[in-house]
Amino acid sequence: MSNEATLFLRQFLSNPRDISSVVPSSRWLARGMAEGLGPNTGRVVEFGPGTGRITHAILEAGVAPADLTLFEMNGEFVRHLQDRFRGVTIHHGPAQAAPNLLPPGVAHVISGLPLLSFPGPLRQEILRTAFSILAPGGSFVQFTYADRPALDEAELRRLGLRSELGRKVWANIPPARIYRLYQA
Ligand SMILES: C[S@@+](CC[C@H](N)C(=O)[O-])C[C@H]1O[C@@H](n2cnc3c(N)ncnc32)[C@H](O)[C@@H]1O
Repeated sequence: MSNEATLFLRQFLSNPRDISSVVPSSRWLARGMAEGLGPNTGRVVEFGPGTGRITHAILEAGVAPADLTLFEMNGEFVRHLQDRFRGVTIHHGPAQAAPNLLPPGVAHVISGLPLLSFPGPLRQEILRTAFSILAPGGSFVQFTYADRPALDEAELRRLGLRSELGRKVWANIPPARIYRLYQA
């Protein structure tokens, strides 16, 4: 088992709710999450990067390290990310702190958070947070393992959001579906 896989599994065992998966996302899911990003995208924020599978794909797509900001709650993961990604801004803290630490006008929020395992009020708080820092027209990108978006129709309506179906990625454990949320 690689060091990254061992680290991920150890953190899952110590905090299953916040990690919610025994393995990191596959490189195919990570690339799907970064689809459409490039050198001219502008500022990108990632929530819950874990060991950095999606972070790597965002940078590989051409986003400059200086344009990328991460929010990760787990201290072990933060140390791993700091070693791995020079020039990226990494906050050790919850995604919900983003509006206090960043100016608005972010182009995209890419989320690896296990939103479906969170209680409804926390899920909604995280979406409100994301849309308070996003520029008009910006998207919140999220995968789920359960062929439905992280918010149901009533929650989306309440928050004034709409969900667009992205691609299904079979090459992931478990297979995942990508969704893009926009202001309605
Ligand atoms: C399912 S793991 C995903 C890791 C990585 N994005 C991937 O796809 O492999 C979820 C990550 O979200 C982090 N996390 C959970 N709640 C968080 C929060 N409120 N703010 C920031 N990070 C959080 C966990 O520590 C964990 O690293």
